[in-house]
Amino acid sequence: MITTNFKHPIGIFDSGIGGVSIWKEINKLLPYENTIYLSDNKNAPYGQKTREEIIQLSIKNTEYLINKGCKIIVVACNTATTNAIKHLRANYNIPFIGIEPAIKPASIQTKTGVIGILATKGTLNSSLFEKTSSKIDDNITIIEQIGEGLVELIENGKMHSTEMTELLKAYINPMLKEKCDSIVLGCTHYPFLIPQIRAIVGPNVNIIDSGEAVAMQTKNILQKNNILYTMKNKPSNIFFSNKEEIVLQDILKEYKNITIKYSDF
Ligand code: DGL
Repeated sequence: MITTNFKHPIGIFDSGIGGVSIWKEINKLLPYENTIYLSDNKNAPYGQKTREEIIQLSIKNTEYLINKGCKIIVVACNTATTNAIKHLRANYNIPFIGIEPAIKPASIQTKTGVIGILATKGTLNSSLFEKTSSKIDDNITIIEQIGEGLVELIENGKMHSTEMTELLKAYINPMLKEKCDSIVLGCTHYPFLIPQIRAIVGPNVNIIDSGEAVAMQTKNILQKNNILYTMKNKPSNIFFSNKEEIVLQDILKEYKNITIKYSDF
């Protein structure tokens, strides 16, 4: 096991700013923890890449975080989790937390028996996702929709554009036509779009995102390994971007005591 103690940071990575939706949940639940976040936006989007490419990028990010002394790694990306976490767990002696589309809770909550899932091509085509969805009750209809173009718009600062609204309508309206009452956000970039999605679906459709559950799981695993930061601490929260820091700065503008830096990882 890599030797770390509770003071070491939690490492988090994603292809871009998506994982910040997870970082925010972790920071809310575990405010004393030190964190290091990697926004691999030079290589975004991951969703269109091959499994092998996603594994190689996940290895690069993991090794960078391990070299920075991280005590646990949160793969804050559904695409990297569904394609690479098995490989990471088999090769690195450090706890990993992943995120997968929450279709199981959606299948329990649905009243119409129709659930929609919005995720990247890489996630929907992964064998891990196939395995999870094959366990869902046969009476439930799952409508899979690739969110093509959404991550690119978010990473390019066009989250609130007409282009975004049009794409979201094109992906979501067909789900609503099929009487879908629960939409699973299967990409960590998508929680930033919740207000826009809500405006399209109205008040009666459940929008399901697993950020909070990932933060809870991170806490449980830290506790189990005796590396949870339990004392009061003024934490260090460092965000590294390997392309442009501007989108990170915008999404994190309400946080005062954080550092955003460029790094060629
Ligand atoms: N945020 C990511 C996810 O959860 C990656 C999206 C992408 O880079 O395509 O899948």
